Amino acid sequence: MTATKVTPPDIVRAKQEGRKLVEITAYDYPFGLMAQEAGVDIVLVGDSVGMAMLGMETTVPVTLDMMIHHTQAVVRGCKTPLVVTDMPYMTCNTGIRDAIMNCGRLMQEGGCDAVKIEGGEEFGPVVEAVVKAGIPVQGHIGLTPQTAGALGGFKTQGKDTAAACKIIKDAKAIEAAGAFSIVVEAVPAPLGQLIAESVSIPIVGIGAGVAVDGQVLVIHDILGLFDRFVPKFVKPYATLRPTIIDALKTYGQEVRTSVFPDPEHSFIMSEKVLQEVREKMR
Ligand code: KIV
Repeated sequence: MTATKVTPPDIVRAKQEGRKLVEITAYDYPFGLMAQEAGVDIVLVGDSVGMAMLGMETTVPVTLDMMIHHTQAVVRGCKTPLVVTDMPYMTCNTGIRDAIMNCGRLMQEGGCDAVKIEGGEEFGPVVEAVVKAGIPVQGHIGLTPQTAGALGGFKTQGKDTAAACKIIKDAKAIEAAGAFSIVVEAVPAPLGQLIAESVSIPIVGIGAGVAVDGQVLVIHDILGLFDRFVPKFVKPYATLRPTIIDALKTYGQEVRTSVFPDPEHSFIMSEKVLQEVREKMR
């Protein structure tokens, strides 16, 4: 991608041109900046912020105000990637007017470029209305974490014929509603391929195999920042947690033994001034 701002039409074009899309989550300014420097196409301010940054058990307690707060920080660091923000739990479920108002708040107050809405064909009318209001939408189907309980937990979706056909129908409905891209989570790799072949907008997979149009992962997972369960579809590209803990331990040890701060990390004062101060204070 170029150094100019990535737009939803650029994302659609990537599929037509056979370019794979790189999407990663970020929740604050430094990680937004690093994602930009690494040249990712889409930065997702995911509602996974609840678990990754705020210590919540699920994404359900995440509010619109929290998403606005984190989006503002990420946007400050992301001049070129497309910034997409998750619509959190129940912000698009209580009617089309509420959905447009809530998505509008996120765009206006958060400053993101697009929103992501979880849900299949039953969310077609909502996605259509939001897109018609001028807000670009990325869909999210397959495993939808906000309703994981109703889907039987964090499990692979689309494993039998009916469930697989339903997810393909979901993708077609969300495309017809005007979404510029769809995240497909936790489906068997061959189904990921079938979904990608069924629509002309890019399918960005997370646990959907390699034959989709791009990949998205949670940044804490790929950097190895958690000691918790790592899902099968996550490949850690670094193991930063032990490195960070080691650094903190060394810092603690040096503070306790007066090794830090050493002269290199301390400010100096002229002997003359020091002497004068001593005399004045006697
Ligand atoms: O919230 C999030 O991080 C997401 C990704 C898992 C796609 O929705």
